[in-house]
Amino acid sequence: MKQWENETFSAEDVARLYKEYAKIVKNYGAAIKEVQTKLEILDEDFELLHDHNPIHHMETRVKSIDSILGKMERKGLPLSLESISSNLTDIAGIRVICHYVKDIYAVAELLKSQEDVEIVKETDYIENPKPNGYRSYHLVVKIPVFFVDYTAKMPVEVQIRTMAMDFWASLEHKLRYKSHGTIPKFIAEELKECSETIAASDLKMQRIHSFLQDIEHNMTLKTEEEIAQTDKIAKAVVGVAEIAAEQKE
Ligand code: GTP
Ligand code: MG
Repeated sequence: MKQWENETFSAEDVARLYKEYAKIVKNYGAAIKEVQTKLEILDEDFELLHDHNPIHHMETRVKSIDSILGKMERKGLPLSLESISSNLTDIAGIRVICHYVKDIYAVAELLKSQEDVEIVKETDYIENPKPNGYRSYHLVVKIPVFFVDYTAKMPVEVQIRTMAMDFWASLEHKLRYKSHGTIPKFIAEELKECSETIAASDLKMQRIHSFLQDIEHNMTLKTEEEIAQTDKIAKAVVGVAEIAAEQKE
């Protein structure tokens, strides 16, 4: 484990956190398991009902000790277990990688509607992408976790995105990390363009999939106009891509 080289926190506080970290990992790991199981159950039931799995795969992580130290320092917060657990809502994280944009909203709604799930924060970076082009649906939820002699309501950050959005975010993250936070302007512009191309492709894939499902279920096939009219999300995504294309001309 890398030693914390900063002067912000006392050596005693850092040493204590390293000692207590095993408990953090165990407790937040348990919270991740609870939410992951909920999502697995939803995915299986959705498949039975709709003949389609919304979730492609999931990735989970408990925030590393160095990331915790870095974040507490950036936020100017004291380093204690109590302060960490009351100020950080992303210690437990689940990334849900979906096939299509519609799946993201279906998964989010199904999770949000569960009785024991409390919504702490919700950010739709698909309808409102970040200026750099980042797209994903973020939820912070609190769920009860039952331990031997107590119950704790624990926060879990859930990032829901398509495979294409994940592909983009992974590259952008790596680039930002390697270039120490300052991505050259021309690369940042290319990345943004990629994000818009990806959003438009996500939408086309979504439409083709809906069309395929209509064929499979012997439904009357929709016309292009009907698809565009009924798909609010699709329209929003197309809007962004069209504006970007116009600006380029
Ligand atoms: P953090 O302090 O970084 O947790 O940000 P926040 O509390 O303002 O929340 P936000 O929803 O913006 O970001 C939470 C997490 O989403 C980050 O830790 C990243 O994992 C991911 N994320 C947010 N913005 C970006 C981005 O521009 N690029 C990439 N690759 N990931 C992002
Ligand atoms: Mg974070």
